[in-house]
Amino acid sequence: MKANQAMADTHVFARHALEQAMRLVVAGFGSAPEEIEAVVGNLVDANLTGHDSHGIGMLPRYAEAFAEGGLVPNAHVRSVLDAGALLRLDGGAGFGQVIGKEATALGIERARRHGCAVVALGNSHHLGRIGAWAEQAAAAGLVSLHFVNVIAAPIVAPFGGAKAGFGTNPFTAGVPLAGRAPLILDFATSVIAQGKTRVAYNKGEALPEGCVIDDHGRPSTDPRWSVIEPRGAILTMGAHKGYGLAVLSELLGGALAAGLVGHREDGSARRVLNGMLSVFVDPSALGGGAAFEREADAFVASLLEAPAREGFERVLLAGDPERASRARRSADGVPVDATTWQQILRAATQLGVDAARVQAAVEGPEAAPA
Ligand SMILES: NC(=O)c1ccc[n+]([C@@H]2O[C@H](COP(=O)([O-])OP(=O)(O)OC[C@H]3O[C@@H](n4cnc5c(N)ncnc54)[C@H](O)[C@@H]3O)[C@@H](O)[C@H]2O)c1
Repeated sequence: MKANQAMADTHVFARHALEQAMRLVVAGFGSAPEEIEAVVGNLVDANLTGHDSHGIGMLPRYAEAFAEGGLVPNAHVRSVLDAGALLRLDGGAGFGQVIGKEATALGIERARRHGCAVVALGNSHHLGRIGAWAEQAAAAGLVSLHFVNVIAAPIVAPFGGAKAGFGTNPFTAGVPLAGRAPLILDFATSVIAQGKTRVAYNKGEALPEGCVIDDHGRPSTDPRWSVIEPRGAILTMGAHKGYGLAVLSELLGGALAAGLVGHREDGSARRVLNGMLSVFVDPSALGGGAAFEREADAFVASLLEAPAREGFERVLLAGDPERASRARRSADGVPVDATTWQQILRAATQLGVDAARVQAAVEGPEAAPA
């Protein structure tokens, strides 16, 4: 691993300097100022939470999609069907960082009005870290569930299959908890997110056993099988159980919400679309709000007080690792591997942005991590 090993150095950039540098890059799409803020804020936050796979490293792919006309800057959600608590939205192939935020804001507004809401979103460009939308709903006091499909070349094999049949189809849920940070359960239904295999490939690192198969269906630890042609496939998490959840995300986020499943994509297009079915519930509108708060708190407290077993520091709640990483990287800086950084600078040039200005934004004494 070989060819990429020499590029495995990592830069550490101060959060604000990195945001400033990324504003310059995203401006190259011709985005309005609010869109620049939404895209940069969302991508840098994904890096802060530790999910580099869904952070600024996506920008080169976005630039390629934009060049092909597969990503449309300055698009906003359009209502296709409005039945009060049921909404069907079209994202116009716009930046998922904007479309996801707008779709979630509409779901929140409807759930506050009706007690619950179902939002079917189709034709959004890559929605990034889906946990961001669960966090947005939880901050508004709402429970939310999100089933997401990926409309790009299939990369995950069905359980028992030797060939990819669908995407990494995330499942995400958020539950607000009184007096403590919310549960944010947010994962790809593949054993590893595809972006993480790209990060491993860029760093020249092997994957753990049991993540990928090669183009003949044989087990491998080389991330190349999910990054470059000829491709193999990533396996589903939890064997047949993750497979079941992946199929559910495709049926609900894809067929039902987006009216489009991903398996026909041949990989020649660089765009990545996501379909998302989101369900929002206002606990206070369901009655029993006080019991929910009391019981949820007692249950979570009992988990977090459990003694840690060997090899673990303590029991965590889903969402805790991201919050801890966000606090740590906001203070200490954001690591970006050298290969990813070079790809971003190249993308800047493709977008007509002076890469030297982007580089300058992360250099100098004021750009050093605190
Ligand atoms: N937009 C897309 O097309 C797309 C596709 C796939 C994945 N994604 C995103 O990729 C990101 C990464 O997914 P992933 O599968 O690599 O995530 P992951 O394997 O890191 O799992 C993350 C989840 O597990 C929880 N968690 C981690 N350690 C824990 C612990 N010790 N105790 C309790 N909970 C713990 C986290 O809080 C989080 O909810 C997600 O944000 C997902 O939304 C997006």
